[in-house]
Amino acid sequence: MSVRVAIVGATGAVGQTLLKVLAERSFPASEVRLLASARSAGRTVEFQGEQLTIAEAEPKAFEGIEYAFFCASGEIARSLGPEAVARGAVVIDNSSAFRMDDSVPLIVPEINAKALNNHQGIIANPNCSTIIMVVALKPLYDAVGIKRIVVSTYQAASGAGVEAVEELKQQVEAFSAGRPMEARILPSAAAKKHYPLAFNVIPQVDLFGKDGYTKEEWKMVFETHKIFNDHSIMISPTAVRVPVMWCHSESINVETYKPLSAVDARQLLSRGQGIIVIDDIEEQLYPMPIDFPDRDEVFVGRIRGDISAPNALNLWVVGNQLRKGAATNAVQIAEVLLG
Ligand SMILES: NC(=O)c1ccc[n+]([C@@H]2O[C@H](COP(=O)([O-])OP(=O)(O)OC[C@H]3O[C@@H](n4cnc5c(N)ncnc54)[C@H](OP(=O)(O)O)[C@@H]3O)[C@@H](O)[C@H]2O)c1
Repeated sequence: MSVRVAIVGATGAVGQTLLKVLAERSFPASEVRLLASARSAGRTVEFQGEQLTIAEAEPKAFEGIEYAFFCASGEIARSLGPEAVARGAVVIDNSSAFRMDDSVPLIVPEINAKALNNHQGIIANPNCSTIIMVVALKPLYDAVGIKRIVVSTYQAASGAGVEAVEELKQQVEAFSAGRPMEARILPSAAAKKHYPLAFNVIPQVDLFGKDGYTKEEWKMVFETHKIFNDHSIMISPTAVRVPVMWCHSESINVETYKPLSAVDARQLLSRGQGIIVIDDIEEQLYPMPIDFPDRDEVFVGRIRGDISAPNALNLWVVGNQLRKGAATNAVQIAEVLLG
């Protein structure tokens, strides 16, 4: 069976990755319709040897579409998602617009594919940092239960879209040429102040709430609860942007209900779905973002007991947030629906 597919935000970081993932996985698409803003309409993009022309994303562009992958802002998902559903499409949305809506399943196929049974046309793809964390923690959750998570993220520039990547490259060039670095995208285009990411670390991803936590940090809490369907997990997040191009890394301290040695954790994780363990300190082997520009798995290393607490482990986790954290997870959801 083949289906007609649309990608909204086809010129963006996630949209471009999604196109690549569809081709790599031989997704059964009889048509791929590329949509973006009016600014991009008429531009062409290569897909499997064919030049596809980008059209403006507007309600009538969804006529005849069966699966619409939304890779644009929450605002666009809110305005055009229901239009796509009204025209018979299943929407898989990468923005945060619908994630916490009770009627919308929030899916990581390795964990809660069953929740897809109740979808009403819109399915949400979780936040990228959340996906990477929950894939890595699922085997531990199943085996010994998770009481508390303390996580710090090290998030790539590409997590903030194509403009953030361009800005980082320009900052590196400016710095190397002795010119001042310009910043207008990070920590968030909507923020009051902007800081250069090159040769820097920014302890703010997205905007702050009144409680001192950022939206990104709260997403990791709320979405983890919804995906595991377990609101008892205590989560303490700190989200940080670092000057790497791809892959989010996470330092995770996890407190479990039952004891688990590092050796047993390593074994459990090695058998986990979508996980690859790289953990050999003798050989200085651990996951690093630079190694995974095109990988879909979540990589785990530095697995060790917490020297300060019983029933707790430390993990170093790396995942490509454009792929498993966005595009690949979205395509996997469509694959589950297709059966
Ligand atoms: N980057 C990541 O790692 C990541 C991971 C998970 C989830 N997400 C989420 O995925 C979404 C896309 O992120 P991104 O990083 O790919 O952003 P991006 O690189 O900035 O791309 C944004 C896309 O939205 C399109 N767009 C803008 N205005 C539009 C309009 N009025 N109508 C239709 N399309 C419009 C842009 O098209 P033009 O080129 O025409 O402006 C572009 O294709 C966001 O909601 C983001 O939070 C991102």
